[in-house]
Amino acid sequence: MMPRRTKIARLLADGNTGFDTTVMGWIRTFRNNQFIALNDGSTLHNLQVVVDFENADAELLRRLTTGAAIRATGAIVASQGKGQALEMKARDIEVFGECDPEAYPLQPKKHSLEFLRDIAHLRFRTNTFGAVFRVRHHVAWAIHDFFHRRGFVYLHSPVITGSDAEGAGEMFRVTTLDPINPPLTESGEVDFKKDFFGKATNLTVSGQLEAELGALALSEVYTFGPTFRAENSNTTRHLAEFWMIEPEVAFVDLEDNMNLAEDMLKHIIRHVLENCGDDIALLESRLVEEEKNKPQQERSAMTLREKLQFCLDNDFARVTYTEAIDILRISTPNKKKKFRFPIEEWGADLQSEHERYLVEKHFGRPVILYNYPAKIKAFYMRLNEDHETVAAMDILFPGIGEIVGGSQREERYDVLRQKMEAMHIPVEEMSWYLDTRRFGTVPHAGFGLGFERLILFVTGMTNIRDVIPFPRFPGYAAF
Ligand code: 4AD
Ligand code: MG
Repeated sequence: MMPRRTKIARLLADGNTGFDTTVMGWIRTFRNNQFIALNDGSTLHNLQVVVDFENADAELLRRLTTGAAIRATGAIVASQGKGQALEMKARDIEVFGECDPEAYPLQPKKHSLEFLRDIAHLRFRTNTFGAVFRVRHHVAWAIHDFFHRRGFVYLHSPVITGSDAEGAGEMFRVTTLDPINPPLTESGEVDFKKDFFGKATNLTVSGQLEAELGALALSEVYTFGPTFRAENSNTTRHLAEFWMIEPEVAFVDLEDNMNLAEDMLKHIIRHVLENCGDDIALLESRLVEEEKNKPQQERSAMTLREKLQFCLDNDFARVTYTEAIDILRISTPNKKKKFRFPIEEWGADLQSEHERYLVEKHFGRPVILYNYPAKIKAFYMRLNEDHETVAAMDILFPGIGEIVGGSQREERYDVLRQKMEAMHIPVEEMSWYLDTRRFGTVPHAGFGLGFERLILFVTGMTNIRDVIPFPRFPGYAAF
């Protein structure tokens, strides 16, 4: 067995001195042949390990370089130096793994996020990415905590799906057929009957339809899993593989759905503010540095913590699509033809430039847009009394745009069936979905929260590729 170690987070939080212990981690810096800044990932902060260099073996000192992994055993004492309350007087140091400083790409200096993206296998070792991934963990935890306390059942929807009707996005095919020489049908098409599952299959774009099946028996369920979209979107807010949280609730309507989403987002933000103080402080100063390169009017009016607190303290604005179109139509950028997609009439799909105008310029806080034109939304959304709009809702966040998309679902068999036919959804193939409307249907609603978009918001990072360990996007699937 390895010797027991104490995590650095624990040592620093307890603040006790006058005892012996063992720590293990990676050397961030080694100064004056004497002071090791040791990080073990449990916290942003390093432990100062003081080497008795007069009595230390020269060979050992040579091996103590940035990036090397070590064990240090010694006494925890009050620190004489500035910048830390306590430190370790090392009695014994073992090097687990040396690190050639000439070859190691991470130098003790600032690296650009672009550079670090190319060495994503090592970027966990930087302050910024350590903070991002600790916060990401906390957000995931807070989500499970939120739903668990409310009695929701965590449902695992399939990653490989045999249904291609959701229509949320382009899909990745899953196949074991030989791409060069696939079996063909008599009419010359690829014969998916001979494929692994005996049919064509894809990676899921959303777990919603399966979650609905669960909700119509378990009442309240949520999924939390990876989803995949083969869209050619090369933006700072799109990934080809991203994580989505999809609650689905029976016996509720659109307004309950909005309340649930707003409560959930506030619960998460509160949890992060209460539990990730050090990491958020670091990310806040990172953002300030990043914004120094921007013109004054593009810089955030609030710091990261102020922005998070602001979200907690204020109700989200709730506006119908129709109201939003009226606001946009008479807005200055629309009149001055500053929008790439000018808003002319009711029915137009909103682009991110419009969403950001509403959130950042008009309302200045998160916005829930609801009751969209039926024509621009999915088949399963509930048709409103006006027969023009559906009970859909999107939540838009400052700096990000859409973070949540959801709706009350069409629970009326006849209405749903008609809509499916009109929208060319294969009714036969989807009989399992329609069955829930035949056998004890109920009003129900749900939504999908884009996990990485939420992480962008709480960490103040600006590129979605920097909040998932190994991003996948068009032309890129390294690691
Ligand atoms: O709005 P979307 O497409 O909604 C659905 O998939 C519904 N089935 C959800 C539901 O009602 N259960 O996606 C939901 C959210 C978006 O609001 C966005 O935050 C995120 O998923 N999202 C993406 N995040 C990163 N990269 C992408 N390519 C994304 N596409 C959607
Ligand atoms: Mg959407």
